[in-house]
Amino acid sequence: MNILLIGSGGREHALAWSLAKSPVLNELYVAPGNAGIEQFAKCIELDLTDHRSVIEFCRLHDINFVVIGPEGPLVDGLSDSLTHAELCVFGPSSAAARLEGSKGFTKDMCARANIPTAAYGRFDNAEAAKAYTRKQDMPIVVKADGLAAGKGVIIAMTMQEALDAIDSCFDGAFGDAGAEVVVEEFLEGEEASFFVLSDGVNALPLATAQDHKRAFDGDEGPNTGGMGAYSPAPVMTDDMTERVMEEIIRPTITDMKAQGCPFKGVLYAGLMITKDGPKLIEYNVRFGDPECQVLMMRLKTDLLPILLGCAEGTLDLVDAEWHNDPAITVVMATNGYPGSYDKHSEIKGVNEAAHDPDVEIFHAGTVSNDGKLLANGGRVLNITARAATVSQAREKAYAAVEKIDWPQGFYRKDIGWRAVEREQQN
Ligand code: AMP
Ligand code: GLY
Repeated sequence: MNILLIGSGGREHALAWSLAKSPVLNELYVAPGNAGIEQFAKCIELDLTDHRSVIEFCRLHDINFVVIGPEGPLVDGLSDSLTHAELCVFGPSSAAARLEGSKGFTKDMCARANIPTAAYGRFDNAEAAKAYTRKQDMPIVVKADGLAAGKGVIIAMTMQEALDAIDSCFDGAFGDAGAEVVVEEFLEGEEASFFVLSDGVNALPLATAQDHKRAFDGDEGPNTGGMGAYSPAPVMTDDMTERVMEEIIRPTITDMKAQGCPFKGVLYAGLMITKDGPKLIEYNVRFGDPECQVLMMRLKTDLLPILLGCAEGTLDLVDAEWHNDPAITVVMATNGYPGSYDKHSEIKGVNEAAHDPDVEIFHAGTVSNDGKLLANGGRVLNITARAATVSQAREKAYAAVEKIDWPQGFYRKDIGWRAVEREQQN
């Protein structure tokens, strides 16, 4: 089987690494890929906004299956165009991708399907949003409706902050994404990410993870795409997982089908485990990055038939097996990220760092030039390890990080702290 994988992040390196182990795989193409992926797959340039050229590439190279990593092309309808051209594709239609593309769409679905989530209001003008907000308790959360690269969420501690956030959304701080605004109740609890595949009808729970969104140690600094993660999330016990399936995931799948836009792909549920039970914070319609890296590190089964089952509507016939051992990943990013940063600083020592058989290094923003490895983005490397405990996995990951010689990079030194604390208490 020939596969085209779309994307260039640590998530796509981890997916490519897993797919490459499949005995069913023949050629793996990745568009655009990165310096880590090009070591074992064919990286190609494709204009992903030109769907016809993607289809042409697939025809020319006998591609049997297209796997779409990031949300942009999904919301943009790449999956629809490929399906229309009778290609087999992993990734939801643009109508189903509204679960990520519009926070208001998801909140309305929750209301319809009685899914536990924060109380909310949805507004297309600042005056109405402010009138609603003035009647609420603080803190409160103000969200731009559309895709805002993870930046469109403001947790306002005071009324003035909330009113200012509403103004800045409608004044265009997040571009078109802020044309509508959701104002919602602040939820208290422990966050967890839960990944479930759906073929539109059946659901296959995959695994859980916890992310570290802030840039610096102690959960300080600006929000990022994620500076590290571990799997499983201890807060997601078997009972809690079943409760989330029953109260959140299955009602979503049923409602999406009833709305005429069945969800086929991976549902990434951002959850808050509150004292009243699990509540949905948001959905993403793709694997998390860096959560995918720890998931792939724990997956025992061949990934390819699972993703295919999802695309072909036969998810009830496949199963996923996992290593019980936890996995952790530490993100190394370029100084300045998530703000502006320089490109093309040299990174040394990656091969030495990857010597431990329990360590995998997944690349994100990297490029190779004349035999040198250069940074080419904000998040650059994902140092990933699996071991009998989170503490041991963390030691292995940081031992590998120490071997990497990259003065222009930084990383958090406390990835996994919550899980390590729990282990020490037990
Ligand atoms: P999102 O972009 O929706 O994932 O939001 C980013 C982060 O903001 C989440 O991971 C949460 O930590 C936080 N957040 C979003 N909505 C809420 C909420 N209603 N209550 C508390 N925290 C929230
Ligand atoms: N790590 C968060 C995300 O992928 O959205």
